[in-house]
Amino acid sequence: MSDLRDRPQPHPRARRLALAAAALAAVTLAACSRPADTDGEARASRIQPVAKISLKVQKVAPGSRTGEQVYQGTCAGCHGAGALGSPKTGDAAAWGPRIAQGFDTLTKHAIEGIRQMPPRGGGADLTDTEVRRAVAYLANSGGAKFAEPPVTK
Ligand code: HEC
Repeated sequence: MSDLRDRPQPHPRARRLALAAAALAAVTLAACSRPADTDGEARASRIQPVAKISLKVQKVAPGSRTGEQVYQGTCAGCHGAGALGSPKTGDAAAWGPRIAQGFDTLTKHAIEGIRQMPPRGGGADLTDTEVRRAVAYLANSGGAKFAEPPVTK
């Protein structure tokens, strides 16, 4: 019955050493298994796509947007669906009588606004030439053959 008490106990110093070694191992493990989150390179590659997109947007300086870019950014909101009675993009029947007015009249109306259509389609920072490009793009979708003023670099 004295087997528990009689069992040889490890020397106290050996116990302390074992404890210290275990603690050291735990710290080392914790350091190695840190999530990849703190890896600067991995983080950089994850935010890269966002940075690339904003760069792409910045590259198109005001004044040098193509008709399609202006259309997508400003005009599609109404003309894409024919909202407010606007001639719908690609609808030749709706655009025919409008196109018959000629490019200059269409452009004048697009710049100054006409009835429910706000001046420049609400794109206050659009240059006259950019509106002309968008008018050409939009009217051409409905059957016109207007030459879109080129973007000069
Ligand atoms: C807020 C809605 C709206 C936006 C945005 C808009 N339009 Fe319009 N647009 C209209 C409406 C409505 C008409 C029809 C006006 C009418 O004849 O009563 C119209 C008509 C036109 C016409 C025909 C004008 C004519 O003389 O028959 C052109 C060209 C045109 N828009 C170009 C554009 C361009 C280019 C943009 C983008 C820069 C644009 N629109 C953005 C609503 C819009």
